[in-house]
Amino acid sequence: MARHRVASTEDLDENERIIVEVQGAEIAVFHTDGDYHAVLNYCVHQSGPLCEGPLSGKLVADPPDFTWDYDDEPRVVTCPWHNWKFDIQTGENVRDSTYTVPTFETEVEDDEVYVIRG
Ligand code: FES
Repeated sequence: MARHRVASTEDLDENERIIVEVQGAEIAVFHTDGDYHAVLNYCVHQSGPLCEGPLSGKLVADPPDFTWDYDDEPRVVTCPWHNWKFDIQTGENVRDSTYTVPTFETEVEDDEVYVIRG
């Protein structure tokens, strides 16, 4: 596995993302929840630019009324083409986890952010 520098930590504020090219593939790096999450910018539905869509929390039931709302942790990206939603930490589609998009390990060293890709 090779390590690819994609940004410095000061270039990527909390809840921001960048889209970079790593070995010919477009990969988005999200800075959320104090960590960095790398996801292929490719939607498995119809090849849309998944990671250019909005980021939100997860849809959760809120007892006692069990109304549905989004939680506070921004970890779901919505594809701008047809609104399929994927968890940026696991790559899984939030409705059907048999659909996944590739995710990649990240590392931070000396204020530089790296994506690990083989
Ligand atoms: S291409 Fe992403 S939802 Fe259709």
